[in-house]
Amino acid sequence: MSEFAERVVAWQRVHGRHGLPWQGGRDPYPIWLSEVMLQQTQVATVIPYFLRFIAEFPDAVSLARAPLERVLELWSGLGYYSRARHLHAAARTVLRDHAGRVPTVPALLEALPGIGRSTAAAIAVFSAGTRAAILDGNVKRVLCRHEAIDGHPAQAAVLATLWSLAESRLPDAGIQAYTQGLMDLGATVCTRTRPRCDSCPLAQTCAARASGDPAGYPRPRPRRVPPWRPMAPVVILAGDRVLLERRADKGIWGGLWSLPECASAPALAGEASALATQLLGALPAGVAPAQPVPLPGFDHALTHFRLRIEPWLIAGVAAGLPDPAVGTDHPAARLRWLPLGECVGAALPQPIKRLLLGLAAGAQGVPAEGERRG
Ligand code: ADE
Repeated sequence: MSEFAERVVAWQRVHGRHGLPWQGGRDPYPIWLSEVMLQQTQVATVIPYFLRFIAEFPDAVSLARAPLERVLELWSGLGYYSRARHLHAAARTVLRDHAGRVPTVPALLEALPGIGRSTAAAIAVFSAGTRAAILDGNVKRVLCRHEAIDGHPAQAAVLATLWSLAESRLPDAGIQAYTQGLMDLGATVCTRTRPRCDSCPLAQTCAARASGDPAGYPRPRPRRVPPWRPMAPVVILAGDRVLLERRADKGIWGGLWSLPECASAPALAGEASALATQLLGALPAGVAPAQPVPLPGFDHALTHFRLRIEPWLIAGVAAGLPDPAVGTDHPAARLRWLPLGECVGAALPQPIKRLLLGLAAGAQGVPAEGERRG
């Protein structure tokens, strides 16, 4: 057995958690229930919920036959209710496909709702002594620290490394004490913020501890940088009125009034001018527009991407009001003129409002922040 596994097993026998209500038996049902409850909740919180649940639903068959509402009531307070819904659905599958007996083979367990690779392994280990590797959040942290892995488990390459490490460390004997030991070590010693390295059986070989900064592992989750998306709105002015177009219901700012936008962005002057010709052509007395002028560009951050807004200005056009009688699929039904002075109170997308307020103030749309177009 590797020294790593030996130390974990020896530590678990003395310092690990024993005598928990789901420990000691070989019936996979209570083990499954406990592992699901423990997925996002600490042991001390789980115990009374587990006892109430198992008293009312002592096996998969009684759970499968229960109404979901009652299952959710018993779960109430534990949180993450999809766990309860999955558990109930899985019990029904167990009744239908496995004659009501919870399987102990990892592949069969993993096919059930709410059971991932690590939970399937834990159930197989504790109910059947199967030599399978777990990798829950605590174990990821223990391994990241022991190996001083330079990355975060959310990165696919790091996760793959962790799984192969977890597999390679499995002992030939004592799989249950080893698995429980890894869980207990992560929960009680190798804690997220203040690891108690003085009490750790793996301290001598832990690379993160040797680095002097064990809590610095795992490394922070890499921030996903939202991609840029260009946008070329066109400010079409007739006197002090700006032409607005209602946006499609789907996509950003769905259904809001906003500026018309060139189909491709950033846009050339010719595209802005063609757009204006097309829109004004839908209005009574629409007049071919004046030469487009580029306005200063600026950035606007949204949750999933960053807009680079490069607007055009076409001023001094002459056009009548949209005809209110036209049908909703007529282009004019999606158009309206808004006096610039009324932009403040209008339900416009924020960067568009900023642009128009800047224009209204006579500042030529210069935004308060962000980059300028060169
Ligand atoms: N977390 C997940 N499974 C656990 C278990 N069996 N014992 C303690 N903590 C756990």
